[in-house]
Order: sequence, then structure tokens, then C-alpha cells
Amino acid sequence: MTRSPTPLAAIVLAAGKGTRMKSQKAKVLHEVGGRPLAWFPLLRALELGANPVVAVVGHQAEAVEAALAAALPGAPLRFAVQREQLGTAHAVLAAREALGAYDGPIVILSGDTPLLTAETLAHVVGARAGATLALATMKLANPHGYGRIVRDPAGNPARVVEEKDANEAERAIDEVNAGLYCAEAAFLWDALSKVGSANAQAEFYLTDLVAMAARAGGAVAVPVPPEEASGVNDREELARAGRVLLRRRASELMRGGVTIEDPERFDCDEGVEIGADTVIEPNVRLKGRTRVGAGCRLGAGAILTDATLGDGVTVKPYTVVDESTVAARAILGPFSRLRPGSEIGEEAHVGNFVETKKARLGKGAKANHLTYLGDATVGAGANVGAGTITCNYDGEKKHPTVIGEGAFIGSDSILVAPIEIGAGAYVAAGSTLTDSVPPGALALGRAKQVTKEGWVARRQAEKQNKGAAEAAPPPAPGEGPRGGRAS
Ligand code: UD1
Ligand code: MG
Repeated sequence: MTRSPTPLAAIVLAAGKGTRMKSQKAKVLHEVGGRPLAWFPLLRALELGANPVVAVVGHQAEAVEAALAAALPGAPLRFAVQREQLGTAHAVLAAREALGAYDGPIVILSGDTPLLTAETLAHVVGARAGATLALATMKLANPHGYGRIVRDPAGNPARVVEEKDANEAERAIDEVNAGLYCAEAAFLWDALSKVGSANAQAEFYLTDLVAMAARAGGAVAVPVPPEEASGVNDREELARAGRVLLRRRASELMRGGVTIEDPERFDCDEGVEIGADTVIEPNVRLKGRTRVGAGCRLGAGAILTDATLGDGVTVKPYTVVDESTVAARAILGPFSRLRPGSEIGEEAHVGNFVETKKARLGKGAKANHLTYLGDATVGAGANVGAGTITCNYDGEKKHPTVIGEGAFIGSDSILVAPIEIGAGAYVAAGSTLTDSVPPGALALGRAKQVTKEGWVARRQAEKQNKGAAEAAPPPAPGEGPRGGRAS
């Protein structure tokens, strides 16, 4: 990472409402890649070594500050509140107090530019050295809405004119202000004190500084890629920025040795880590603080949130994992659901339509079909048969189930917690157990089977008699299909 050799401070403007988002929520809190929009420019400034970095908040100030502070723990981040949004110059002035006596160069960024790269930022900061102010510019086929760069006869930037203040000739200029600047603190505070609001929007324009710098020691325009500097103003731009970020994430992961079968159908939050030789099938979503080991396979449609997977784990399609850990070579899915607090041991299997919650499965333990394991500990090598349910909840409290190593739980068993099945014990299929089972025992907890030989033939004969007689007599007690009496 390119670090600035000189001291550097940053101001990130994030006080605006973002009217075009049509949202209850402040624009900079809308997320791409699992992070609020303003997280990106803040991080880029921090990566460049800016200290302090001041976020100017205003609209929903408390929520914005809380979200950004939480997303950047331990960073040299300060917050300044701009109570009324009177314009970009006014917003920068709001940061002055937070910067105290700092007197070096200050870079100013917009909170809604998540695609800006550290390289481009470093470029703009570096370009300031020979001038009073550096500003990023870009050429756009459709410059509508942006401030236009008016150059002097020598070709240097003379001023910026906002769309609403521009005459026809100025509106025809296709070079626009990207909203990224760098200037010395001394110039900045002096110039800002002189900015007025006599313009079409009656706002204090930060862009007025360009003309002042041009008269002082010169303003230098730094061309930057439009893709990076375009802001997010509405939901379409939000989605587009999300796609660009994902494409970058996918490229980075592929360079690191991850196979992504279809990068266009891959969703991955910032900060997710994936080991080499892991293969990712289409439509996988990796969220939050997920870590995936090396040599794993993530099946189509798998959704992992705050999950930690060891090496060689197989996640078959449509498996959902939340806040859980899965050890090496375990196999999940298809259609498994791991709820928070699940810890799946090495080489364990969790199969289709199996739900776990706060469940610990030991090495090689298996629960392959249609099972609920909640507040349960399953020992190494134990086998939990199809349709097994741990009844962990009595309507008021949750209770634990412990299944010992190598135990065998027959299919369709109901284990009413608290209960412990000893190591190596057998539970007969279809059992409902309320008492613990000692190691090595066999427990049966099911209704005894009743078999009535010849019942079908007798019933058919009865029916024929009934058809023959006008009024048939009722069947003998205990002989109807629901009348079975244990005999
Ligand atoms: C601004 C520039 C324009 C440039 C464009 C690039 C000015 C006057 N114009 O226009 O030349 O082409 O950005 O995107 O600066 N903000 C505050 N407080 C305020 C006003 C704005 O914090 O009082 C923040 C906004 O949240 C946003 C940023 O400043 O992050 C830019 O404000 P915005 O209203 O989007 O400015 P533009 O009209 O786009
Ligand atoms: Mg804007």
C-alpha cells in the first residue's frame, strides 16, 4: 500500500440526506459488500495513512456515527457534526474543530464514493505538492449534474461552475469535478472563511476554492477514472457499485487461487477470506466475517454468514450456515441449516433437512437426514438416524441433550431433554425417551406392535355381508381400523 511520506489528514463528507435514494435511512448507511457506503472512502484514507480522519455527519448523525465507528474499530476516526446542510464548504468547515491544530495537507472525499481506489487517492494527494490545491476531474459523455471545470487560456483549472450556475457554453464542457480534493490546512481554513452563498442554490460551495487556489499558487487537475469517482446517488447506482466491488473481490480471490465458477453469480462481503483451491459454484453468498479454508467446495446456492470453515470442507447446494464453525473435511448438505453456535467436528456429516442450533458434533459424527439437533452434544462417531428430534424446549427453558461417543440413535427418535445417551448405547427406532440411557445399553421407548393376521379378509367378508343385507350390523368391537385394542 502506498503510504503518504508526509503527514496527512482526511475529511469525508457524509452529512447529506441522499434525497434520490428515497429512503428513511441516510444515504451513506446503505450498504455495498456488507459495508456502509461511507466505510469505503474512510478506509481508503486510513490505508493511505491519514490521521486523523474526520467524518462529517449530519443527517441521522447518531446512526451514521455509530455504524461507521463499529465498522472501523480502533481507527483514528473522529466525527464532526454539521447540524444544517448548508453546502459542501460549510461541511468542510464543520470538521475544523475536530482537526485541532493540525496544519499539514488535508484530503477531502465524498462519503458516497465506494469505488475510489487507494492508488487514485494517493495520486491526487501526491499531485498537490506543486500547487495550492489538487482536484480530481473526469471526462464524462454525459456531464449533467456535475460541476464543470473551466480552464484558463494556459490550460490550467481556473474555476468550477456548478450545473445550476452554468451558462450554455459552460454546460457543454465535458470535464467535471469528481469531488475529491487536497490542500494545505492553512489555505483551506483561510479560503473557506471567504466563501459566500450567492449562487443558484444559496449554498456554500466548496468548489469556490478552485478559483481562489488558481489565484493563489495554482490549482492542478488530476484526471481519475470515472468508474472510481462517480458517486452513488440512487438505488441503481448503488446496485452498480455493488457489482463493480464484487467483480474486484472475485478477481482478487481468483488471483489468490480460488476457483469461482461464475464470477457474475457470486456474492461476497468485504473482508471474507477464502483459501486456495476452494471451488465456488454459482450463486454462493458469503457474508459478514466468514472464513473459508483451503480446498473446500461450496455448492450452488450456499449462504454462509459469519461462518468459519476448516480445510477440505464440502458444502453441498442450498445449505445455510450462520455463526457456526465447521472443522476440516466435514460434509454439509444439501439443504442443511446450521443455526448460531453450531460446531461441526472433523469429518462429521450433516445431511439434507438437518437443522442444528448450539449443537456440537464430534469427529466423524453423522446426522444425515431430517433431524433437529438443538442444545445438543453429539460424541465422535455417533450416528443420529433419520427424523431424530431433540426436544430441547419445554415452553419456558432450553435443556441440553448429550449423545455419547459411538452411540446409535435409531430413526424417528424423540429425545426429551434434559437427557443423556451414554457412549455406545443404542436407541431403538421410533423411541420417545424421557430418561437417560447408560453407556452400552439398548433403550426402547415405543408402542408395542399389534399384528392381526387375516384382518383384511375378514373385513372384506363383512363388507360383502353388509351389501347383501338391507341393514348391516355394526362391526364387532376392536375390529374397525381405528378400534385396535392391544392384545
Ligand atoms: C458536488 C460538487 C460538484 C461535483 C460533485 C461530484 C459542490 C458545490 N459541488 O456536487 O462540483 O461535480 O459534487 O460528485 O461541492 N454534503 C455534506 N453537507 C452539505 C452538503 C453536502 O456533508 O451541506 C456531502 C454530501 O453528503 C456528499 C458530498 O458532500 O457526500 C457532496 O454533496 P452533493 O450534494 O452530492 O454535491 P453535488 O451536488 O453532487
Ligand atoms: Mg453528489
